[in-house]
Formats: sequence, C-alpha cells, structure tokens
Amino acid sequence: MSHGPVWHPFTQHALQPDAIEIARAEGAWLERTDGTRILDAISSWWVITHGHRHPRIIAAMKAQADQLDQVIFAGFTHRPAEELAARLTKLVGLPHAFFSDSGSTAVEVALKMALGFWRNQGINRTRIIAFEHAYHGDTIGTMSAGARGVFNAPYEPLLFDVIRLPFSAKGKEQETLEALRAATADGQAAALIVEPLILGAGGMLTYTPHVLADMARICRETKTLFIADEVMTGFGRTGTFLACEQANVTPDILCLAKGITGGSTPLAVTLASAPIFEAHYSQDRRKTFFHSSSYTANPIACAAAVANLDVWNEEPVQARIAQITQWQHEMSEALRADTRFTDVRLCGTIAAFDLRVADEGYLASIGPKLYDFFLSRGLLLRPLGNTIYIMPPYCITRDELASLYEAIKEAADTFGARA
Ligand SMILES: Cc1ncc(COP(=O)(O)O)c(C=O)c1O
Repeated sequence: MSHGPVWHPFTQHALQPDAIEIARAEGAWLERTDGTRILDAISSWWVITHGHRHPRIIAAMKAQADQLDQVIFAGFTHRPAEELAARLTKLVGLPHAFFSDSGSTAVEVALKMALGFWRNQGINRTRIIAFEHAYHGDTIGTMSAGARGVFNAPYEPLLFDVIRLPFSAKGKEQETLEALRAATADGQAAALIVEPLILGAGGMLTYTPHVLADMARICRETKTLFIADEVMTGFGRTGTFLACEQANVTPDILCLAKGITGGSTPLAVTLASAPIFEAHYSQDRRKTFFHSSSYTANPIACAAAVANLDVWNEEPVQARIAQITQWQHEMSEALRADTRFTDVRLCGTIAAFDLRVADEGYLASIGPKLYDFFLSRGLLLRPLGNTIYIMPPYCITRDELASLYEAIKEAADTFGARA
C-alpha cells in the first residue's frame, strides 16, 4: 500500500495512482505543479460556470474576508446573506431562502421541509416519489431519493423507500406520467423530487420540458409538493438560468448549489414557497424547522454568490451559453454519423454520448481507460462508464471545445469501439 493520508472521494485508492496535484487555475484551465495544463472540460465536477478565479468573484471574497469571516446564523444575520436572499428569491419567484453548504444538504433540507410541511399541518403524507436513475447526493436521505446501485449498495439497510418513476426516455413519457398519477392518486404523497431536463450522475439522460411541465401539473392537481433539484442544472447549464424555466414551472421547493458561487467556494440554498414557510411559522416551538450546519450562509461564500449574480447581470453570460450550445450542436453532428457512438444527446451547454462497447454501465472497464487517455492529452473528462460527456465552463473557446471532440474520436479509434 502506498498512498498519503488523504482519502479522496469516489476514488478506489487500490487501483488509482496518486492524485494529480493542481497548483493554480485560471479560466478553463488547471495548472499542475510542473506548469503543465489540463483543460477542465467538466467544470471541476460541474461547479465552475464562468471559469476558474473570475476576478470579480475573487475580489468580492477578499473584500468580505477583511470584514467578516464567519458568524453563527441562528439569531444573527449579515449583509451578504440578506442581499443574496433578496436577489435570489426575486429571481426564482420563491419567497424564502434557506442556506446550507452543498448540493446534498440543499436536497436534505428540501426533503425535510416537505415532510415538515405536512406534519406541521397534522396531515399524514410521507411518501417521496423520485426518478429511476436519479442522483441527489451522498447523504442517507439523498441516497434514498437517488437510484439504488453500486454507489450506495453497502448502505441499503439505512435507506428509506421511495416510489420510483420509470425514466421518461423518448417514447416512454406516458409511462412516467401514468406512474406519477398512480403514485399521487390517493393523496398520500408528500413530494416528487426531480432533476429537471437532465439526470446527471445517472448517465446524463435527457427528457423534454413537456414532461417536466406535465409532472408539475400532476403534482399541483394532487397537492403533491414539487421539488426541483437544480444543483447541477441551475446557473445556465441547460441553456436557461434554471432548467425549470423551459417548462414554465415554478417548483414548491428549489435546490441550488454548485454554480451559485460561480464554483469558487461551497454554498447551497433551498428556496421555498410561502405555504412551506408558513407551515413552520408558529408560536409552537416544535414546529421550528430544525436544520442547520455550522457554516450556514458563510459570509465569504454569500459575497461570492452576490458577485456571481453581478456577473450574470453585467456580462454577456447568456450569449456565451448560447454560443457553447450552438458549438455543441455543430461539433456533435460528426458523432451522430459515427456508428461507434450511440444516443448523442444535448441539453444546453452539456453534450453526452455513449461509446459502443461490450460492457456498459458505470463500472464499464472502458471508463478508467478513457479517463487516462484524455488526461494524457491534457484534457479532464471523467466518463460515467461508457458515457462520455462534456460540461465546460462558459469561457471555453471554440478551439478548446474542438480539441475535446477530436480526442473523443481518437479514443474511439484507440479503444476499437464497436461500429
Ligand atoms: C442533481 C444533483 N443533486 C445533488 C448533488 C449533490 O451535490 P454535492 O456533491 O454538492 O453534495 C449533485 C452532485 O453532483 C447533483 O448532480
């Protein structure tokens, strides 16, 4: 055994060599200690939006660090959190913002809010409904809502049951909607949780705004809370600021994280409708929303998030996103014609395709080989098994994106994908 003291996430230390040390980063690039560069084509696990170290965001964090680093958020407040909450609530059309630190905690908070909403009104609704192939995080609650599989098999005894909807793949939309109708018909469902338009870790599986709108409508008709987990999709990834916008849907509860600070520092928020807040608003202290983490609404993170919203307001972010979306369309065309790839799918700035190989799925042996192949060319792509996807920061250039497609084609040549 040879490895240092750090236990890395989603890393099999017995199989993977030492982690690559990154000394600095700028824009779409990571730089190793020896000065060589790596193109960050997955936005450092989907968090970086405008590029690494956006000057405005970094400056806001530095200025905030000189004023107030951290303060308990129960009974106390501060300017960056107040401003961020005011702006976010206005932007998404939900009046209450509850801060936490990661996508997983944003979703845990959402599930707890949903359960509290019903219980505080003395109504017995506890059933959670979620998608097949869903991923909502790695805590016990979020793993319960997520699909069962290799990620969470050891913890199965601790996970709670949810009603699982078949994924609304093309041609299967009615099955999904019928399953949702069946799961909500008796008025016992607490909430439906979905990743809007694209299921991320479950394989970058896309579905239509139409289905999203229909699911929201069924929830409304059956008074089932609709939770949108926009941890990955939020902040422009799918082409619009929120994916829900494309279906003209305002959820009851909305989870945001990753891109909220432009990817600079951890922060998350769960936004809630008025009735959800009001169900917890009471002279009875037992109806308090009992959730917190030590760093809730950290001032430096909130200042970064405020600066990120300024970037959205003052820079042509939407135009950059539209440009990347168009490039992805153009460049993925060649893969559509290449029979070694299947299921080429696009969702805003995200492109994904499956390489035709003998063993498929998350543990497909091709996954680590592809990862090494791309890294050896200075490209960070982290395939989900045989699914290769590109989720770039919005500062990526046409040539940089083209170099990724070139390498992906070379990978198919090298690994003899089956036509
Ligand atoms: C849709 C979705 N929800 C929740 C999470 C969990 O976020 P975090 O890794 O910040 O806990 C992720 C992470 O990839 C995600 O894609």
